[in-house]
Amino acid sequence: MIKKETIDRIIETALVEEVVGDFVQLKKRGTSMIGLCPFHNEKSPSFNVSPAKGIYKCFGCGKGGDSISFVMEHEKYSYPEALKYLAKKYNIEVEESEITPEYQAEVDRRESLYIITNYAAKFFETTMWGSPSGQTIGLSYFRERGFRDDIIKKFELGYSPDEWTALQDKAIADGYRPEFLEETGLSVKNDSGKVYDRFRGRVMFPIHNFTGRIIGFGGRTLKTDKNVPKYVNSPQSDIYNKSNVLYGLFQAKKAIRDVDNCYLVEGYADVISVHQAGVQNVVAASGTSLTPEHVKIMARVTKNVTILFDGDAAGIKASLRGLDMILEEGLNAKVVLFPDGHDPDSYIQKLGSAAFKTHIELHQQDFIFFKTQILLKEAANDPIKKAAVIRDIIESIAKIPDAIKASVFVRECSALLNVEERILIAELNNIKLTKLKKNYTRNQPDAESPQPATHSPQPDSPQPEDESPQPAARGSLNETDEPQEHELIRVLISYGDALVNWDGMTDTYIGPYIITNLSDISFNDKLCERVITYYHDELDKGIIPTEKALLQHPDKEIKNLAISLISSPYMLSANWYDMHHINVPDEKVNLKATIMGAIFHLKKKKIATMLAAKQKQLQADNTSEQELQLMQQYLQLKEVEKYISNYLGSVIIK
Ligand code: CTP
Ligand code: MN
Repeated sequence: MIKKETIDRIIETALVEEVVGDFVQLKKRGTSMIGLCPFHNEKSPSFNVSPAKGIYKCFGCGKGGDSISFVMEHEKYSYPEALKYLAKKYNIEVEESEITPEYQAEVDRRESLYIITNYAAKFFETTMWGSPSGQTIGLSYFRERGFRDDIIKKFELGYSPDEWTALQDKAIADGYRPEFLEETGLSVKNDSGKVYDRFRGRVMFPIHNFTGRIIGFGGRTLKTDKNVPKYVNSPQSDIYNKSNVLYGLFQAKKAIRDVDNCYLVEGYADVISVHQAGVQNVVAASGTSLTPEHVKIMARVTKNVTILFDGDAAGIKASLRGLDMILEEGLNAKVVLFPDGHDPDSYIQKLGSAAFKTHIELHQQDFIFFKTQILLKEAANDPIKKAAVIRDIIESIAKIPDAIKASVFVRECSALLNVEERILIAELNNIKLTKLKKNYTRNQPDAESPQPATHSPQPDSPQPEDESPQPAARGSLNETDEPQEHELIRVLISYGDALVNWDGMTDTYIGPYIITNLSDISFNDKLCERVITYYHDELDKGIIPTEKALLQHPDKEIKNLAISLISSPYMLSANWYDMHHINVPDEKVNLKATIMGAIFHLKKKKIATMLAAKQKQLQADNTSEQELQLMQQYLQLKEVEKYISNYLGSVIIK
């Protein structure tokens, strides 16, 4: 058991912003800090950290707590594991009272796997630094490759003796259980039941998890025999999942955050050489190709990835498609090619870090352009191939979640491909629409409507009477009106008593303006409706409610709504805000756009609901007269929608 005094010291020392800051990129906002929540997927930050209170809280998923609970939740640690992690981070000596049998039992199997893996790493290190064969074979290999001793130590590199059972003999003699050696893949059992070491006569690269614990190994052979695999890697285990571990991330994470960029290379040696040369923001997807999980993990640390390709990698073209997932995660992807025969490791070893950095500066290209050029070169003058290239590129662009960014790429690719921009936009919208329709169909409770509507009915909005209730489904087309309603209320509460100059002549109060503009709208959310009614009544009395009045409202529900809306701004459409250069903390700068945005987003949503209802009616049995009438109403609504959409700038379908 960890002593109470130790626990108290840890709690005192472990500042929540530092502990969280190791995993989440935090930006200051007023007295608190915000970032993207690590516990759920989000595009705009709702994860708040309050250094003053020592707590974090996500307004998106609701998770909250202090430094210790953060580590427990994030790293899936038990309470004592979390305490030990924090103690290690802050160099606090952990004093434990006598280990009870219960505590012994608490040290679970996973912990044993970590322990044996760490033991093996130490064994490989000791062997390399301390045994004759380790020094002459392992250590001298690394030194010949140009790795400095400090870097060899920093990455905890080692050497596995060229014997069948060196590790397992030593481990068992030291009291470790053979089953854990097998579960971590350090031992292998062959068909005849013989158990032996997986890593023999190889230089060893330990793989660390995000918090620095060793979870597996890559072992490189020193033989030139083509029949011997160059690398042997630890298999998947309960503590090592290849698809979500990036080699070098533990050593790189601070630098990645500092320079807000991550270099992605192919091999262990590349990571180490580049890191050694002082470019520390470098990682590799080791022993497997890049997965979406890898990309998600990177995205938590930075939004900018630069992929460094070997010059002669014949696989570049094959890997292009896979890299689209980087775009899908909303990352900015750049690509650098190294001259033929060079990988980042050999380049930096031969020419030094200054030349390396210059090479990157001069040759880095946006992923989309890089891809366009490679594919175009291949298509040469074949018009059919070129059409395929265009489609391929537009498909990549369609994966970029940020519509502004996408439109920039469309413009520039139009020049590269020598195709009119509007044709590309049409193609882009086509792809997006197809995706939307697929999404729509997938979200239908049953496939009763063969003609997918652009917008679907709302579960609790005014519907024709014969409408059977539809369960709420996920997906962009089936959202409720709540975000729009809440955003409108938030804006009303925050700025209702502020003045805005609409026409360059007179200042008008925002509150009455909004209320007048909403006269034709009813809210689905009854609480929002109550706020509007309250606002209306106050205006009738000649009072414009202030933010304070709502935050201290006697009606507890209204008060709570006001608090939660004010503390967590709703971002309806990041796209739209970007378009109008509105940073949410800066929304006051362009108050007019903020207000109009809130009103029009809500109206657009309501119209979408009405359109869906009309469409539904159109599918029913109607007389031709009814049908004509419905058509006309539908088209009128469509016009209004178009007007609003134009205002909101959704030229490219989001
Ligand atoms: N790799 C692997 N198994 C192999 C070959 C490669 O797991 N048989 C993985 C390793 O993670 C390796 C990466 O793919 O680091 C890149 O391979 P390669 O370029 O061949 O290795 P380098 O790290 O460049 O090794 P070296 O420079 O020592 O040749
Ligand atoms: Mn190499």
